Amino acid sequence: MNSIAPHATLTGSGVDGVDIPIVGIGTWPLTGSECTASVTQALALGYRHVDTAENYGNEDAVGLAVRESGLAREDVFVTTKFNKDSHGDAATVRQSAERALKRMGLDYLDLFLVHWPNPAQDLYVQTCESLVGLVETGLVRAWGVSNFKPVHLQRVLDAGMVPPVNQVQVDPEHAQHDVEQFNAASGVATAAYSPLARGSEVLNRAELVDPAARVGRTPAQVALRWHLQQGRIVVPRSANEERQRQNLDLFDFALTEEEMARIDALDTGEGPRLDSDEFGH
Ligand SMILES: NC(=O)c1ccc[n+]([C@@H]2O[C@H](COP(=O)([O-])OP(=O)(O)OC[C@H]3O[C@@H](n4cnc5c(N)ncnc54)[C@H](OP(=O)(O)O)[C@@H]3O)[C@@H](O)[C@H]2O)c1
Repeated sequence: MNSIAPHATLTGSGVDGVDIPIVGIGTWPLTGSECTASVTQALALGYRHVDTAENYGNEDAVGLAVRESGLAREDVFVTTKFNKDSHGDAATVRQSAERALKRMGLDYLDLFLVHWPNPAQDLYVQTCESLVGLVETGLVRAWGVSNFKPVHLQRVLDAGMVPPVNQVQVDPEHAQHDVEQFNAASGVATAAYSPLARGSEVLNRAELVDPAARVGRTPAQVALRWHLQQGRIVVPRSANEERQRQNLDLFDFALTEEEMARIDALDTGEGPRLDSDEFGH
């Protein structure tokens, strides 16, 4: 039987309890028919949460898969993210959402994220205010941020807003404890992107291979289970049917405290690949 992921509940400014499946399918860098095929397959396997972005150039392909899935729109959670040229006042952010919806052929978004803070532009606080207002229009059910460091989040909090979610890069070697702890202390859910470290060598480490052997799963499943047991939402990406299936099949085994601690010890303390004070689009 195919798995269906349980939900977490997002709350924050303007958002009073929106359920989000805790495992979504990542779509970067797939585009066109390859992306549509991947999302179509994922939805057939039981995924009910899709992660896309304006910058991936695949919102059209994702929208097509969602529309033609045969699933009711309300049964699929769609996240997209917008670029810095749409940061700013309410009209600017609203137009960005409308353009995304047009590309996707959908009527509303479940989650709309500021993709990068772009501090040099210094419009992200106003952009968050615009997003709170956008929820009231019904075009988006929830909003959030991505790649925000505590220093960026603090400015949003100081302006009186709590983003429901912060999507950041987390894997066993890049745990970003400071970011996650700040999110948690602020009431912001953490979503992990690149949760499998992009399929890197870390998946061959004994800290993941040993528990995988014990529970009869793969190291990737162990990595994803480690995220879930620490309360993160994850959006792993694969277009491969077997790996998509594995990445959703996470709910009938558990890691012991000792196994969790061994994986935690893989953290290098290094920051993410890209520094969001320097990089952004
Ligand atoms: N907010 C942001 O700024 C941001 C940035 C980057 C990514 N994202 C989102 O996060 C999603 C996931 O991140 P990502 O694509 O960077 O990396 P990822 O999900 O950590 O890793 C993807 C890689 O892992 C491999 N893989 C997947 N499942 C596997 C399994 N069960 N066993 C072994 N290998 C497996 C895939 O290979 P195969 O494809 O061959 O299976 C692929 O090479 C993206 O697709 C995107 O939606 C967001």
